[in-house]
Amino acid sequence: MPLYMTGFGNHFASEAVPGALPIGRNSPQKPPYGLYAEQLSGTAFTAPRAENRRSWLYRLRPSAAHPAFTRYEGARLFAPGTVDAPFAPNRLRWGPLDIEPQDWLDSLTTMLVAGEGPATQTGVAMHLYRAGKDMQNRAFVSGDGELLILPEQGALTLLTELGRIDVKPGEIALIPRGVRFRVTLPDGAARGYVAENHGAPFRLPDLGPIGANGLANPRDFETPVAWFEDVEGDYELVHKFLGSLWTTELGRSPLDVVAWHGNYAPWKYDLARFNTIGSISFDHPDPSIFTVLTSPSDMPGTANVDFVIFPPRWMVAEDTFRPPWFHRNTMSECMGLITGQYDAKAEGFRPGALSLHNQMSGHGPDVATWTAASNAALQPHKIDGTMAFMIESRWVFRPTDFALQTSALDDDYDQAWTGFPKAQLPEA
Ligand SMILES: [Fe+2]
Repeated sequence: MPLYMTGFGNHFASEAVPGALPIGRNSPQKPPYGLYAEQLSGTAFTAPRAENRRSWLYRLRPSAAHPAFTRYEGARLFAPGTVDAPFAPNRLRWGPLDIEPQDWLDSLTTMLVAGEGPATQTGVAMHLYRAGKDMQNRAFVSGDGELLILPEQGALTLLTELGRIDVKPGEIALIPRGVRFRVTLPDGAARGYVAENHGAPFRLPDLGPIGANGLANPRDFETPVAWFEDVEGDYELVHKFLGSLWTTELGRSPLDVVAWHGNYAPWKYDLARFNTIGSISFDHPDPSIFTVLTSPSDMPGTANVDFVIFPPRWMVAEDTFRPPWFHRNTMSECMGLITGQYDAKAEGFRPGALSLHNQMSGHGPDVATWTAASNAALQPHKIDGTMAFMIESRWVFRPTDFALQTSALDDDYDQAWTGFPKAQLPEA
């Protein structure tokens, strides 16, 4: 069982072998046991202290020791770029994809890409994974962004340079940009979502008048203790760089960090620990009240990407249309479903599915949801057994060729908003 240290963005220190972590300095002339000291910078050296993220790793060999990268030919649906053709402002929805026999890396399937991407450190990509076997003797790293992993079916073990994480549906995990890892499947086949954030690292949102506590509380984030594997022999490293995949052969495992310290590290978080806040008077608050993590952009209050959840919660608002309302948004919204039913749609949005409501496209409840909620007796009611999420960005999402061509694309999604009765004005 992996062990964890708690807190969001804390300065941790951990060693898998007693005495491996230098004390009182980062780069001694001779680190303990002949380990190699390496700084991993997640922000610019000169980022303000509150933003600055870096860790020092002490490893069996320097990560710099590898031959040149060549193009990786696997994972054909991962990071294939987006269509260049004009893209209609249609609302789109996809059913869940089938599990494939590949490992986690090769099963990755890019569906949506928002923003200019890795070259400008803006935007976010939505990938799906649907893996049938362990990654063996190979590791993956994204130089393009941090990876927010959301299991929907089956558990994952994330073996990272900084430690081991077990994550299962209902939990999320984050692999920072540049951290190498491999994925094994303790329960067999696994499926889920990956949001690759190309912009500023995710942080907890400010709480404003909410106060000092609430939403995702920092102490519920769990970062693994140091762990390493001492493996010699064939070992592949696949590196995502500027939207394409590259491979090199290491001759050893890159997961050889014996000790580390710093505040740039992977973590996991149980979404059930989210302190959900909502209306106790009237009206449905803006869904920003459900923000778990945010990646700011250079426009104040306008996120590069927000990660928002729709967890179990009590609905008590009086004289209120309680489900998400109709709206059009300057932000673009991509949604997924981990479990249960999303309260804006009566049908057609299953766990593992994906939906897209881009900038200024009208959306909201379907007719059945609108009819039921408009006529419901407004007793206190608990929405239970559900977990939907939204990846919201100031940048428009563009589907990949695969996303536009797959049979999982719902070609009838607009039907969700047909059949609404006309409002009845009083006779003149
Ligand atoms: Fe929306």
